[in-house]
Amino acid sequence: MLEALNPQPQDKILQLISLYRDDKRDGKIDLGVGVYKDPTGLTPIMRAVKAAEKTLWETETTKTYTTLAGEPAYNAAMVGLILGAGYADRAASVATPGGTGAIRQALEMIRMASPAARVWMSNPTWPNHPSIVKYLGMPAAEYRYFDVATSGVDFAGMIGDLGQVAAGDAVLLHGCCHNPTGANLTADQWDRVIAVLQARGAVPLVDLAYQGFGDGLEEDAAATRRIAAAFPEVLIAASCSKNFGVYRERTGILIVLASPERRAVAQGNLNYLNRQNYSFPPDHGARLVTMILEDPARTAEWKAELEETRLNMLTLRRQLAQELRKATNSDRFDFVANHRGMFSRLGLTEAQVNRLRDEHAIYMVGDSRINIAGLNANTVPVLARAIAAVL
Ligand code: LMR
Repeated sequence: MLEALNPQPQDKILQLISLYRDDKRDGKIDLGVGVYKDPTGLTPIMRAVKAAEKTLWETETTKTYTTLAGEPAYNAAMVGLILGAGYADRAASVATPGGTGAIRQALEMIRMASPAARVWMSNPTWPNHPSIVKYLGMPAAEYRYFDVATSGVDFAGMIGDLGQVAAGDAVLLHGCCHNPTGANLTADQWDRVIAVLQARGAVPLVDLAYQGFGDGLEEDAAATRRIAAAFPEVLIAASCSKNFGVYRERTGILIVLASPERRAVAQGNLNYLNRQNYSFPPDHGARLVTMILEDPARTAEWKAELEETRLNMLTLRRQLAQELRKATNSDRFDFVANHRGMFSRLGLTEAQVNRLRDEHAIYMVGDSRINIAGLNANTVPVLARAIAAVL
């Protein structure tokens, strides 16, 4: 049986982890996978997470099963963090293994409810989006998003393409901090997108993986909240990997907003999907997140560290834009300072990306996406000079 299997292509992002690890050169720089690193190159466990973990170890009395949807307290705390108050009668939700688990469950739910619905994704998007859609055999479509000339959003193209969405199609939107480009919509542009999608009868699927990494916790949730208020049915896949730094604990949530009459059925279907795929969702990371969000002192400590993280990335963006100005004697890369989140797509060719790796030991994704959080004050000028050298 197994001889019938074909080799699978390696994931382009995850492949970089092993390439980088195997590189023996001093001073190598990893700007590949989206993991936050502090100025010393470490991916720290956040202070509030570490403290909660200690308390949990001391006080946890059982490892028996939670519920199929996860701990109700986690789900309530996450709905509050993402949407604010007022959704108790509309929100069904399940804890999931990370944001990827939430995306997967969301797509499965869409497919179950409406097998012919197309899933619209931005071009470009996080490569795992189209990969999972294809794996599930769902019809897919693309909308334009990135303007290579300006490294900003191709808004006219986006609106034009979203005008082709059919009633009942799902439209995957990055709630904030677009991955891989770093280019994001303004509040006015979000309003236009919402109006077009409302007119088309679309069902928004929001991927919110970087809340708190762009303009702030509340600011980064603003678009998702507008969407939640504007549509009768919305799916929101959120991740705690980055903003709580609990990557390997696999901590995410899928929220489905339905009418109060349909909420219970939606919840039952979410529970069913969890049961089919892995029964109970992982609990450890979710419990730490709950302990932080339910305790004002821990929340304050977590928010302060998240804000440090965000501001550190903003400083790196400004430094990089400045150093690139010096190194290239042009304003070509000024957009880096305006982008938000962990990533920016630099607009280099694949050949230039390969030269950066081969000649300068600098690793980035083949489409020239860099993880800003992989930089520090010392490596920013090194990167800028290397980019200038391969242009
Ligand atoms: C990324 O895009 O680098 C992150 O979302 C990590 C991943 O799983 O790809």
